[in-house]
Amino acid sequence: MADEDAHNGEDKRPTDIPALRWEEPPEGPVLVLLDQTRLPAEEVELVCTDASALVEAIRSLAVRGAPLLGIAGAYGVALAAVRGFEVAEAADALAGARPTAVNLAVGVRRARAAHQEALARTGDPRQAAAAALAAARALHREDAEASARMAAHGLALLDELLPAGGHRVLTHCNTGSLVSGGEGTAFAVALAAHRAGRLRRLWVDETRPLLQGARLTAYEAARNDMPYTLLTDNAAGSLFAAGEVDAVLIGADRIAADGSVANKVGSYPLAVLARYHHVPFIVVAPVTTVDGGTPDGASIEVEQRPGYEVTEVTAPQVPVTGAGGGIPVAPLGTQAYNPAFDVTPPELVTAIVTEEGAVSPVTTEALAELCARSRQV
Ligand code: MRU
Repeated sequence: MADEDAHNGEDKRPTDIPALRWEEPPEGPVLVLLDQTRLPAEEVELVCTDASALVEAIRSLAVRGAPLLGIAGAYGVALAAVRGFEVAEAADALAGARPTAVNLAVGVRRARAAHQEALARTGDPRQAAAAALAAARALHREDAEASARMAAHGLALLDELLPAGGHRVLTHCNTGSLVSGGEGTAFAVALAAHRAGRLRRLWVDETRPLLQGARLTAYEAARNDMPYTLLTDNAAGSLFAAGEVDAVLIGADRIAADGSVANKVGSYPLAVLARYHHVPFIVVAPVTTVDGGTPDGASIEVEQRPGYEVTEVTAPQVPVTGAGGGIPVAPLGTQAYNPAFDVTPPELVTAIVTEEGAVSPVTTEALAELCARSRQV
């Protein structure tokens, strides 16, 4: 159906846009972010000189996506340490900036532990700051490596589940190089399929209300010359019904011990659709997203976002009028239900793909075994 009509974006600028980088200009170290709220209209950098600027960038979604939040959180602790701020205070503020993506707290904890350990051992704040920065850099590097391994495992699984090839993959939200030290999670699998000549179509959910699919995934797909088509979230049902989806590939913000998956709101309805239409629903996430301390889906804290994200539409290039700085699309005073994430129960998940391999069927025991294997490495 849409294959003949679909086209890639016209923009073919390089794909290696660093979502985040550490710099050390003469004025002092900074964390430089690609401001994702401004994409795709413009590539604007946001320079964070302290942890509170980074907390604000995390809340506004200038920097976002589970793995990148972990990396940013770790660099945030390093930034506080290097610039002589109170590290414990900065770490608490960073870890609490958004509640659902467990990677954020994990990244902050790792850099903070490195800082504490070095301070206790040497008594030297400069060495402690260097240790925090080394921990952030290591996490950044490991995430890139994990991304490549997830892509390989994910493509192998796709090929196994869909031996006929010519994969038509539906994805939700944004899971590419904008959320990772590497090429991402679910998007990295689709990209690997594309490079192997086996991606027939990437269906990109626009992902209301903040349009991570339309603004960011389409942006990344265009730059990688992938065959992609954008759809409104509520068009997914008719696409399944038309037999146009072979697999769903999504990321995760937190995976509970029982395999429940919190991801961008709209993921759960896709899982229900996929089950009804006998289509594999595959979650791709690094092991750091699996949270053994969260027993089940009901225990995952789902972030509630401001109502104006639903009652208004924001775009950098249009004049702003609404209370949230956007164009109102609902009557003034309208209440909105705006959870950032939803939770998909494990029985609807065909497989969870990590850098350590895939778990399928998804059970508490299989996930625990995979995490234990990862800790042994
Ligand atoms: O609110 P966001 O944009 O941070 O949400 C991001 C997602 O839901 C992603 O799908 C998830 O973090 C996985 S990214 C690899």
